[in-house]
Amino acid sequence: MSSFVVKIFLAALAAGAAQALPQMSMSTVTTSAVARTTSFSVASSVMAATSTVPSAADAAAKAAALKQLASDLIKEPTSVDRFTKLLTTGGDGKTLLSGQDLKDRVVFDFNNAKPANGSLGGKILLANVDNFPILTDLSISTAVATLGPCGINTPHIHPRATEFLTVVKGQIQSGFILENGFAVNNQVVSQVSTNLTALQGTVFPMGSIHFQFNPTCEDAIFVATLNSDDPGTSQIAQNFFALNGEIVDAALGFPFTIAGEDINKFRAQLPVNLAVGVDQCLKTCKIQTK
Ligand SMILES: *[C@@H]1O[C@H](CO)[C@@H](O)[C@H](O)[C@H]1NC(C)=O
Ligand SMILES: *[C@@H]1O[C@H](CO)[C@@H](O)[C@H](O)[C@H]1NC(C)=O
Repeated sequence: MSSFVVKIFLAALAAGAAQALPQMSMSTVTTSAVARTTSFSVASSVMAATSTVPSAADAAAKAAALKQLASDLIKEPTSVDRFTKLLTTGGDGKTLLSGQDLKDRVVFDFNNAKPANGSLGGKILLANVDNFPILTDLSISTAVATLGPCGINTPHIHPRATEFLTVVKGQIQSGFILENGFAVNNQVVSQVSTNLTALQGTVFPMGSIHFQFNPTCEDAIFVATLNSDDPGTSQIAQNFFALNGEIVDAALGFPFTIAGEDINKFRAQLPVNLAVGVDQCLKTCKIQTK
């Protein structure tokens, strides 16, 4: 393990928000008309929604309607059947939707991203089959993220997709670790690290453990497209420490074991994604995490 990964890992552990697990929060905000957002992770009080926020019940109802639409679409035998259902009034194939009704079906508004509750590092919103049903069977999805100063999208994998990330604004430091067997200079695994500035892109191969970190005191924005309409995300630290304590101990191979209650404390210290981290950055930008 390279020392940078260790640092990122420890920073993620130390960054210290109160929740143990990354959140998948379904939330809906309205800017102009109807909007839906599945907002996972991320954080910062810096990003304020500029729009009216409907009630949690409205948000839940909209999210449920989108999920229902996606599950109706998936039952259609052909692509033409699916688009007929999606794009015509009542799915009747007689009248093409128009105006806002059409826009609701074909446009996804990333302006609706909100920080996850407790997240300190920025905000990220993934458009996938669940909240943007036109993606059904199209094998593609896209996330847009704003990483605040020292913001980090903590190490994670996508179980079903490769990711192609492009920086739109600011700077991003990223890295990935490939699967077992990728050995350079006899190290078991080596981190492949990259620094990116605006309009530079990079790839995180399917299954690789990767992260994005904004080392500056200004916001950074990236767009990431994934080749699945349901790429999935598994946050490494949070999910690893969710294993049984004795398994965590054994896997870490410490010369002494961590007491069960310490593992519980450790879990409770794991930050909500997006987190902030990396000591030097926090000092430079004068960010307090506690
Ligand atoms: C956010 O998290 C805090 C601490 O866990 C909790 O007290 C609060 O109710 C949460 N707010 C929302 C909107 O979920
Ligand atoms: C990325 O930038 C950081 C900070 O300037 C530097 O320490 C690091 O070596 C750079 N990484 C690569 C892969 O160029």
